[in-house]
Amino acid sequence: MELHAEYGGVVPELASRRHLEAIIPVLDEALERASSRLEQIDAVAVTYGPGLAGALLVGVNFSKALAYALASPLVAVNHLEGHIHAAWLERESEPEFPVLALIVSGGHSDVVLMEAHGRYRRLGETVDDAAGEAFDKVARLLGLGFPGGPAIDQLASTSAGKPPLRLPRARLERPYDFSFSGLKTRVQRIVRGEDGEPPAAAELAAAFQESVVDSLVTKAVQAAQDQGVSEIILSGGVAANSLLRASLVQRSHVPVVVPRPALCTDNGAMIAAAGWRRLQTGETAGLELDVEPGLRIG
Ligand code: KG4
Ligand code: ZN
Repeated sequence: MELHAEYGGVVPELASRRHLEAIIPVLDEALERASSRLEQIDAVAVTYGPGLAGALLVGVNFSKALAYALASPLVAVNHLEGHIHAAWLERESEPEFPVLALIVSGGHSDVVLMEAHGRYRRLGETVDDAAGEAFDKVARLLGLGFPGGPAIDQLASTSAGKPPLRLPRARLERPYDFSFSGLKTRVQRIVRGEDGEPPAAAELAAAFQESVVDSLVTKAVQAAQDQGVSEIILSGGVAANSLLRASLVQRSHVPVVVPRPALCTDNGAMIAAAGWRRLQTGETAGLELDVEPGLRIG
């Protein structure tokens, strides 16, 4: 984050170089914290997409070499399937399928129906900016720095009570799709004073957050109802948002599983959890595995 903050966002070239520098120390630290040795590793699970090609390539190539050296199976994991499986790091028993997953991160806002492990149907997605991207862009407009989500969350909490300012919610053709770029443009107009005297930054942050969260929660709850699911899983970096966590729990008619914040933002444990499932069904990858930066789910 420090590396990218200076530029106001992730710089792909810097990100992949840092991945290269960090991957061996990260592996060493993970083994140490787990009091494990490399020889005890049964399989190597790795994200092959979606994401930045340069960063994915570091992980995939390193994992191939590791799996080869250990003579262990290699398991290819979709990053989004990983986000969903963060919920399995928090639960004791299997849910009754189908369940609904709302994945909200810097690159995605997906409403996914999970029919079984490995079986997904994408019901909705963003037609423009992802939720986290909108948080980051609006934070920049408000001069809050990068990453913007936590900064807006924090600033909005200082604006006590319900925000008097109400920003629009996008209406879309498909019932579970999202759009956040119009909202961002509206905030931009307000900040520039094109709509009259701008309100305090905290009030604007609260109104923006309220609008994004309301769209996300309304559609996720509607989809859950329409599909008759037994629970909703909330995951991805934006799931760390305090208002989103609270309103989804409050408005859902079925139980909501929200992994702790450290498991919602990108992490290796969720990839291992998803990889373990694939390993059980014998879905291993060969050394010809390649990255898929534009990979989807469902
Ligand atoms: O899942 P993630 O760690 O990385 C991606 O795969 O993109 O998500 C990062 C995103 C960023 O856009 C960040 O601003 C947002 O998650 N985020 C938040 C909060 N914490 C992180 N958005 C809103 N409220 C938060 N508390
Ligand atoms: Zn992610």
